[in-house]
Formats: sequence, C-alpha cells, structure tokens
Amino acid sequence: MEKQNDWWKEAIVYQVYPRSFQDSNGDGTGDLQGIISRLDYIRSLGIDIIWLNPIYASPNDDNGYDISDYRAIMKEFGTMEDFDELLKEVHVRGLKLVLDLVVNHTSDEHPWFKEARKSRNNPYYNYYHWWPVEKEHPAYRPSYFEKSAWQYNPRTRSWYLHYFSRKQPDLNWENPEVRREIYKMMEYWFDKGIDGFRMDSIPLIAKEPEFPPIERRKYPDFFSSYAHGPHLHDYLHEMNREVLRKYDVMTVGEGSAITYKDVAKFVEPEREELNMLYGFGPAEVRNYTTPDSPDSGVPYSLLALKRMFSAWDRAVGNGWPAVYLGNHDQPRMLSRFGNDVPAFREISAKMLATFLLTLRGTPYWFAGDELGMVNPGFGHIEEYRDLATLNQYKEIKRKKGSPERFLETQKQISRDNARTPMQWDSSLYAGFSSVQPWIRVNPDYREWNVAEEEKNPDSVLNYFRKMVAFRKANRALVRGNYTLIEANNPQVYAYWREDDRQKFLIALNFSQYATEFSPGIDGEELETVLGNYTDYRVLGKTNRLRPYEALIFKRR
Ligand code: NOJ
Repeated sequence: MEKQNDWWKEAIVYQVYPRSFQDSNGDGTGDLQGIISRLDYIRSLGIDIIWLNPIYASPNDDNGYDISDYRAIMKEFGTMEDFDELLKEVHVRGLKLVLDLVVNHTSDEHPWFKEARKSRNNPYYNYYHWWPVEKEHPAYRPSYFEKSAWQYNPRTRSWYLHYFSRKQPDLNWENPEVRREIYKMMEYWFDKGIDGFRMDSIPLIAKEPEFPPIERRKYPDFFSSYAHGPHLHDYLHEMNREVLRKYDVMTVGEGSAITYKDVAKFVEPEREELNMLYGFGPAEVRNYTTPDSPDSGVPYSLLALKRMFSAWDRAVGNGWPAVYLGNHDQPRMLSRFGNDVPAFREISAKMLATFLLTLRGTPYWFAGDELGMVNPGFGHIEEYRDLATLNQYKEIKRKKGSPERFLETQKQISRDNARTPMQWDSSLYAGFSSVQPWIRVNPDYREWNVAEEEKNPDSVLNYFRKMVAFRKANRALVRGNYTLIEANNPQVYAYWREDDRQKFLIALNFSQYATEFSPGIDGEELETVLGNYTDYRVLGKTNRLRPYEALIFKRR
C-alpha cells in the first residue's frame, strides 16, 4: 500500500550538477565542499529536496555516470567525510538529499568488470551481458553514444553490451547475485540517511537474453525496444520489497524511452515499484515539432506541449507526476521553451517558472534556471566536453558530413548547454572557481548572476522565490486537479487547478506576440493574484496577454 508519508508530493526538487555548482579548492571542478558553502542559498529558494547527479568514484567518461566504486566519492568532488558533512548540513537546514542511482551499467573500470573481462570462467563474467564469437555476429543494436552497443573483448572472445559508451558496460539483472549486490549498495546509502534516489536509465535494466533483431515495425525508434525488456517490473517490484519499503524515501525513475502510455506501470502505488517517473516529452516537443502556425510566435508546437503534459497528468492514474522543463541532459529551458533574446529573456523566464510551479506533480528544477541562465552558444568543438557531442562530431567528420551544420545544431541541443558553471557573481569565472573551469562559463555571467539578482526585487531569482512560496501557500496548486482549457489555442497555455476549497486559473502566453484570450469564465468571480509583469491587471471578459505574460486568477 502507499506509504502514508508522501512528503515528496508536496516537495520541489532542486537539481544540482556538482561538477558545475561551486568549486571550493581551486581545481576548476565543482565539489561537495562547494555545495556545502552554498546550502544557505539553496535553502533561501524555498525548495525542499536537493538531487545530486552522481558523486561516486568514476573515471568520468560520462561525468560520473560511469561508476567504478559505488561506495566511494569521486576524488575531484571530495571524500566520504565531505559527503557525511554535506548530508548533515542538508538535514540541519530541513532539506532532503536525493542521490543518483546508476545501475543499468557500471564503469569498465569497476572491479566487477575488470574481473569479468578476464575470462569466461571468472565468477563476475555473468555480471554483464556477453555475446560469444561461436554464435553469429550479434544483431545490430545502436548505443546512445556510439554506433554499436556491442564491444569486442579479445580475452573472453566475446562482445559485451553497452547501451551507452564502451566504458559503460551494462549489468546483467538476470543474475540474482547482481541484484543482491545492488540492493545492498542501496541500503548502504539509505542507512547513511539519504532521502531517496533518482534512478538513471531504469527502464533499460531488463534485457531480452537472446538479443533478437529489433522489430522495426513494433519499435521504429530502436531505443523504445530497450525500455520494454522482460521482467522489468518484476525487478522494480523486487527492489521495492527488498529495499525501498523499509525506508521513508522517495524514488523517481528516469523514463528513458518510456511514453505516457507506460507510466502507470511504474508509479501506481499498489504496484509497489517507484514513486515517480519522468519522460522525455519536453525534449521531443521542442526538437521534433514544427510551429502550430507560422504567425503564432511560438517556435515549436505549443499544442504538442500541452498534449504531452496533459497526457502524462492523466496517465499516472492514482500515481503522481514528475514535471520538468530541463536538466543536465537538455539545453537550458529558457533557450528552449522561452525566448533568450534580451527583450524577452526575463519575462519568458518568469513565465516558465509560473508554468512549472503551477503544474500538478513534483517539479524538478535545474540549478541556474532560477537566474534565467541560457545556452552558452559554443561555436567551436574545443569548447564542448560532453562525449555525446564529441563522438557524434568524430562520426560526422569520418562520414565527411558538415561539421558546421552539426555545430549549429549542438548550439541548440548539446547537453553541455546546461552544464556551464553556476553564475554566482560578476567576478572572473563567475564566482564559481578561482581558475579556468572545466567547461567555459557563459559569457553573459557579468550581468546574469546571483549577486546582481539578489539586489533587484523584480529579478527572475526573486520571482522564482515568490512563485515557490505561492505554490506552497496554496494547496490546490499542489494537490488539486489539473484541467486544460483552450486546448487548441496555439499561443496560450491555460488550465484550472482546483481542490475542494480553492480554484485557480493559470493563463500563460508562450508567444512573443500579444494575444487575446477568452477563458470562458462566465459566472465565475475571479481576481488576479499573481503575474509576471509588475503591473498585472484584473481579469476582464476578454483579456489581452502581453508577450510571455503569465497570470494567475483565483476564484473569490
Ligand atoms: C541518463 C543520464 O541522465 C545521462 O546524463 C547519462 O549519460 C546516461 N543516463 C547514462 O548513464
């Protein structure tokens, strides 16, 4: 049964990418002591939970998503003493700490894999997935980061499977020993007192042992077949029974290749699997949809965005949604869904904050978005650090494609867009570090930074704080129903949030053009309670919404 204590439903999660948050020891890389030194800032935002991207020992082929020791801290980030101090300081401030659980794969430098690759008789061989040379060449399956997901290992005369880079071999969840090891490791962290896990690539853990060719008719997108392996839900249920239900913690799965159609299977409480799952809808809407009409002033399909959020809201059944607009794998939400030109940057950042913080579900907020941070616009391959971008670039060169065109697209979609250092102040390197950071600081930091925005009561930062407080003060915005209205309006996203005591109407202009909006609220007595323009007005029968205007109305 659902735990009575579902504190995570009322919480706001703040995602910190440790490598880019605060460097404390002058090596250009963020670290745990750096995070500790910024906890008062985080607390001042009003959020409840901090989620840290992986902080475990790692050779950093994929910035910590390749773990070589699950029970040690990455040396660039500090020590286990630093971690214990961080956890204590987080709790002292009444906040909670969620870590990343990366168990679809390990690093190839993890002791298990170092053993496994020695011989087929090694006890660790079956910790991973192999395809022996005696069988025909395995059927093609792509990796997210490389061309093929199979890598040949001469000593065992077999290929091993890696859905991500060749330095991230996939664990064999069929093997009960592997699952036991993982559960023990989870208990180690829960016993330390962490408050939950974000589960990396979790739908991919179950594999079809025979690795048949992928049926392209059923799975035109290769990767969706990876997310529908046999026993997936048995494993998650087992993990819940063996570990999760013993602790008062939250879980959120990264819904890699999962659509809203499958979300209920992960999150309906009676299934006893996960608390929440977030999908890739936001990425798809912005990358693959064309504007609803050429003159809408929205450079993507807002109708698709509405359909996506509304479908996920319904599909969770009696589970609970996880909502977000950006994270460390996506470009900055403001560059993607708002408008980062000077005239609209601030107002559209505030509009997006209004949006995410009035949706039903637990909001996941990526650090820096509260400042209105934007994509850095890297123009040279030397500025990029992400292996996904670097590998694709090599492939384009190999195939004699157009590197220029590729770099143009990366400016919009590379994961590095979100990974530039946090902008604390206008000093050199933005107060992030005393030396040149591991990745360039966005050149706009002299104007867009915490110190500047603290001074201005109308800054994006202070608006974010106001919105957080507003959500927390109004239960209907947290627990209330979500009802989309004006579903076919290509510029305005509008919806009701309502519980038995309160009713709110939220109207958001996602376009750079002003627009008329008739919410059809005859008979309702509504007052305007919040808006992102300082001079927001009261509601009339028809309303003009200025570019990127956000208004919240309340029933009197
Ligand atoms: C999803 C993570 O969010 C991403 O950063 C990582 O590269 C892959 N999973 C592999 O762990």
